[in-house]
Amino acid sequence: MSIPAVEVHDLTVAYRQRPVLWDIDFSIPEGCLAAVVGPNGAGKSTLLKAVMGLLPSTSGYVNIFGEPVLNKRSIIAYVPQREEVDWDFPITVQEVVMMGRTGRLPFWRRVSTHDRNMVEQALTEVGIFDLKHRHISELSGGQQQRVFIARALAQDAAIYLMDEPFAGVDAATEKAVIELFRKLKAARKTVICVHHDLHTLADYFDYVVLVNLRLVAAGQTSATLTPENLNKTYGGRLGLLSEITERVRKRQVDM
Ligand SMILES: Nc1ncnc2c1ncn2[C@@H]1O[C@H](COP(=O)(O)OP(=O)(O)OP(=O)(O)O)[C@@H](O)[C@H]1O
Ligand SMILES: [Mg+2]
Repeated sequence: MSIPAVEVHDLTVAYRQRPVLWDIDFSIPEGCLAAVVGPNGAGKSTLLKAVMGLLPSTSGYVNIFGEPVLNKRSIIAYVPQREEVDWDFPITVQEVVMMGRTGRLPFWRRVSTHDRNMVEQALTEVGIFDLKHRHISELSGGQQQRVFIARALAQDAAIYLMDEPFAGVDAATEKAVIELFRKLKAARKTVICVHHDLHTLADYFDYVVLVNLRLVAAGQTSATLTPENLNKTYGGRLGLLSEITERVRKRQVDM
């Protein structure tokens, strides 16, 4: 068995002594496109931040390729949920994307031509090269989302953690981003996204982590996205249940 890209073991995370994630256990193999799924307030963003090592855990640990996350931060790229970013912060598109490079540099080193090329490539890849001198407050929601995806790409990480990368993007952007994810997968990168759209879940992701404060289930999408598991995740509040599981079943038949 190869070492998983991400291993979350017995993780409990609390904000001011109030746990919001309990006893979470799962691992994600290298080269997966994985989705973290659950209702609002389920702890999905908290889980990504804990995987990134941004939040102290009350108990348990996160290993990245078999080592404590704090040793491996430089190989993880993180795209925050849109709502968490201060979009009025006075910074240009290019400067944000360059942070993907400078975050890896010792403070005394100048950015190199290679760093600049990586930034230009990332901007081109997400189709915002022409906007590089714009202030981030002067972009549409979908363009803003792409800026942070470009920053993650510029970082050239092994693991990409993305909190709702499809929130507020149009259909064409969504298609472009999923194509990008498939390219990352082809290069053995691991992508873990918080994803809300259950209709596209089985098409986009080969692995799912279902959470609602506790782990409901984690594994291959085809085996994990069952009516029982979705019911447990959403507490029976999901009218679409049969439609979603029918889609997964049909996909399995087609494959
Ligand atoms: N900084 C914080 N301090 C205290 N409580 C917090 C903090 N951040 C989140 N919480 C609480 O932790 C719980 C989980 O929040 P989290 O943001 O992880 O949920 P989520 O699943 O990402 O939800 P959404 O789908 O709305 O983004 C919520 O009850 C939230 O109110
Ligand atoms: Mg969230």
